[in-house]
Amino acid sequence: MTDKSAIKSGRFFSAKNLFLVIPVFRRHRLRLILGVIALLGVDSFQLLTPRFIKRAVDALEDGTASGAILIQCAGYILLLAVGIACCRFVWRYLIIGFSRLLERDLRDRLVAHLLTLDRRFFQRHTTGELMALSSNDLAAVQLATGMGMVAAVDALVMTLAALGCMAYINPTLTVIAVAPMPVLAITTRMLSARLHKRFNKVQEQFAAMTEFARSTISSIHLLKAYTQEQSQVEQYGRMGKVYVHHNLKVAIIQGLLFPFSSLIGNCSLLLVLFFGGRLTVLGTITIGDFVAFMSYLFMLTWPMMAIGWVTNLFQRGATSLARINRIFSEESELRDVVSEESFPLQSGGMEVKKLSFAYPGQTTPALDGVTVSFTQGVVGVIGKTGSGKTTLCHILTRLYPVADGVFFLGGRDVNTLPLATVRNAIAYVPQEATIFSETIQANIALGKIDAGMEEIEKVARAASIHDEIISFADGYQSRVGEKGVKLSGGQKQRIALARALLLDRPIVIIDDGLSAVDTETEHVILQQIAPYLKGKTCIVISHRIAPLVEAEQILVMDNGKMVAQGDHQSLLESNAFYATIYSHQTESLLGEG
Ligand SMILES: Nc1ncnc2c1ncn2[C@@H]1O[C@H](COP(=O)(O)OP(=O)(O)OP(=O)(O)O)[C@@H](O)[C@H]1O
Ligand SMILES: [Mg+2]
Repeated sequence: MTDKSAIKSGRFFSAKNLFLVIPVFRRHRLRLILGVIALLGVDSFQLLTPRFIKRAVDALEDGTASGAILIQCAGYILLLAVGIACCRFVWRYLIIGFSRLLERDLRDRLVAHLLTLDRRFFQRHTTGELMALSSNDLAAVQLATGMGMVAAVDALVMTLAALGCMAYINPTLTVIAVAPMPVLAITTRMLSARLHKRFNKVQEQFAAMTEFARSTISSIHLLKAYTQEQSQVEQYGRMGKVYVHHNLKVAIIQGLLFPFSSLIGNCSLLLVLFFGGRLTVLGTITIGDFVAFMSYLFMLTWPMMAIGWVTNLFQRGATSLARINRIFSEESELRDVVSEESFPLQSGGMEVKKLSFAYPGQTTPALDGVTVSFTQGVVGVIGKTGSGKTTLCHILTRLYPVADGVFFLGGRDVNTLPLATVRNAIAYVPQEATIFSETIQANIALGKIDAGMEEIEKVARAASIHDEIISFADGYQSRVGEKGVKLSGGQKQRIALARALLLDRPIVIIDDGLSAVDTETEHVILQQIAPYLKGKTCIVISHRIAPLVEAEQILVMDNGKMVAQGDHQSLLESNAFYATIYSHQTESLLGEG
């Protein structure tokens, strides 16, 4: 059942959504059974109480009441109250605990699933949306399976049992008492379908606001620099208004549901007072029966109220579960290969044949028929901005899927190799250094958590960052702030480079990884890392020709195509584009000099 049809029909939980939670119910069945038994305990004790009230009232009426009888009745009622208190504690602990376990289980699975998804997915869904899912939506499911379930079981059992007890006292009066109920059932059904639709809007708006807050906070410096604080506040205010608007619509429906339930309850009370009173006057039932009947009717008031509340909780839970389910039904387009065989990719030979690629939703290809092979040694890649260099890196690091027969690694089609095997063969320095709000040591050791301090310092020295790190008050233990705010652009890049060097993998890809470093330092770094690149396949992308001059081969990219390749000298002679940028760059250097 699609989400839309679920909205239309107003069904609380579709089978597809239930499949998501059934295994958890099964796993914790003992806890649930015990919880429900305790819940039934509360209900039975509550149902027994009016029996003792009736006994006492009847004894008072027919004059047989003695101190001993009244104390006995009071004693039983007290005992029942103690029983109710104990059972209530037990069910709360077990069932609310269960809903927390279910929430944890869903959250763990959600996070694990998100980590399997590819870049296409993350281009379609914002971080805020996913954050809202793991906070607001999971909480709604937790409430529905915790309090919602308890209230539903409780309401159902209490209704049936109270009705049974009432019918035992007088069936006709019971029929009169429940006469207004069908009106409630019909109204609830009608309103609950609307609730589902409204909740969906509330959750969607919450997701949009979460994303807005996240992106505002993470780009606060930029927004301040562009004096956009006021406009951000206004925009957030407008979003808040829409959120309140949707919530108010929910409140209107709830506002109708709750009082309507109690109104119906009061109608029943009115009918019982009138007809029950008459039956008592006529002597058909005793005063004790009448008092007990009224007590049972009061017990029905809670389930009446609960109908509105439970509907509310279940609708919220179902809406959120459907939203979570939509994420679970997403699959990575990158086929992973499960293999017992291990592929120690010693040789880093890489080859792509007629590789064309367009980003999702784009018509113009970012790569157009690229054919190239990378063998041991340093290969430089140069090309105008937007020519497809980073896209090539994305394909080589298996972030996007490729067709069969296009990309070969160590002589094998990558589609026959497990993703982890391919990625474990490559040390990648992306164009934008990603730094975690951790210590510098942890940032460098990202891919090799157990790396010793000695190794870490060695690669940091090679990346020319060691001296700067030890000049910080806490050295390698310095915390760098969110996304490395305490570091300069060049420092971040060199930490990212050190991180890749630490991995010692057969293929190294550096995507413009030293763009924020001055040419002098870049030159020093390239010399220092040369021993690390020895015997490896190394792809160095750069906008500057100087660091590529020594490369055995240089590839020139333009508009998604590989337009020329050769060593520095041959390209100077044969490729006009290459010759032009070289002369521009040397001129500007001379100018600077
Ligand atoms: N995630 C994306 N979705 C859609 N289009 C994209 C995406 N990333 C890049 N592109 C487009 O693909 C083309 C190639 O981009 P790419 O990042 O590979 O260029 P580049 O050569 O690395 O440029 P630069 O030198 O500026 O880093 C560009 O036209 C760009 O607009
Ligand atoms: Mg790029």
